[in-house]
Amino acid sequence: MTSFKPVRKAVFPVAGLGTRFLPATKAVPKEMLTVVDKPVIQYAVEEARAAGIEHFIFVTGRNKSVIEDHFDIQVELEQTLRERGKAEALATLAEFLPGPGQTSFTRQQEPLGLGHAVWCARELVGDEPFALLLPDMVMQDVDGCLSSMVRLYERTGGNIIATEEVAWEETHKYGVVETGEAVDGGFQITGMVEKPPAGTAPSNLFINGRYILQPEIFAILSEHQKGAGGEIQITDAMARLMQIQKFYGYRFTGRTFDCGSKEGFVKANVAFAMWQPELADALRPEFEALIEQAE
Ligand code: UTP
Repeated sequence: MTSFKPVRKAVFPVAGLGTRFLPATKAVPKEMLTVVDKPVIQYAVEEARAAGIEHFIFVTGRNKSVIEDHFDIQVELEQTLRERGKAEALATLAEFLPGPGQTSFTRQQEPLGLGHAVWCARELVGDEPFALLLPDMVMQDVDGCLSSMVRLYERTGGNIIATEEVAWEETHKYGVVETGEAVDGGFQITGMVEKPPAGTAPSNLFINGRYILQPEIFAILSEHQKGAGGEIQITDAMARLMQIQKFYGYRFTGRTFDCGSKEGFVKANVAFAMWQPELADALRPEFEALIEQAE
């Protein structure tokens, strides 16, 4: 059992190439594509802030500096808004901005895999537990997935993985957990399998892109073992860490949209638009007409 330390830092790996979204992602990072009126990355940062995270660590790559600009003040823009009396727009900008000194940026020089991206954050995280949020996975939930995970972590310690129910016939597309004994607000994880062949999944709970991990993961990642697709995978490192530390699952009951895929990205845009009453009213007849036309 590792000694309990609070989760203060979050890592956001944003160094991927986003090839599934070309040509959109040739010059614009996929994390800056917008779901209605916010870039994808902002949803994850807001979720982390709501969970009490104090330091936001971005693992970026070439052509990603616009992400750094997004989380900084924009002097000329703010000056213009002030002169024009646009108080609401100014407040919107101020609302999501982490404070001075609360962000760090490091580079993954080559996209060698998610595990490698996380390892690049090792010096910035140091010897303490951290949250890992895959920004592509955008969550629709009032309370926030990471907040609930932090509450579970405060009871259990160890490592936490968020999971979400999926239809059994879809399990072969995801990383799936094997469930053990129930604990207050979650369950023990006894194993994990990446994309299990149809009919072999140990559960229908997939890993949805939010983790709380202990710093011992870095020693495992430092071995740079390659896994599926020749990439250094975080799932492989977690499976090894599970041999020496406890892992618990949190069952998320909101909805996750995989904005790294076109289908998930479009669904997220529709869902988040329909969540805003003024947009929903305008869009509903439009959607109904489009569906009728398609039938
Ligand atoms: P993906 O598996 O979606 O890869 O990464 P990708 O390269 O971004 O996208 P495609 O498949 O080419 O379209 C999941 C998350 O891990 C990050 C990505 O930025 C994304 O947030 N990642 C992935 C890295 O930071 N570095 C890597 O080497 C790989």
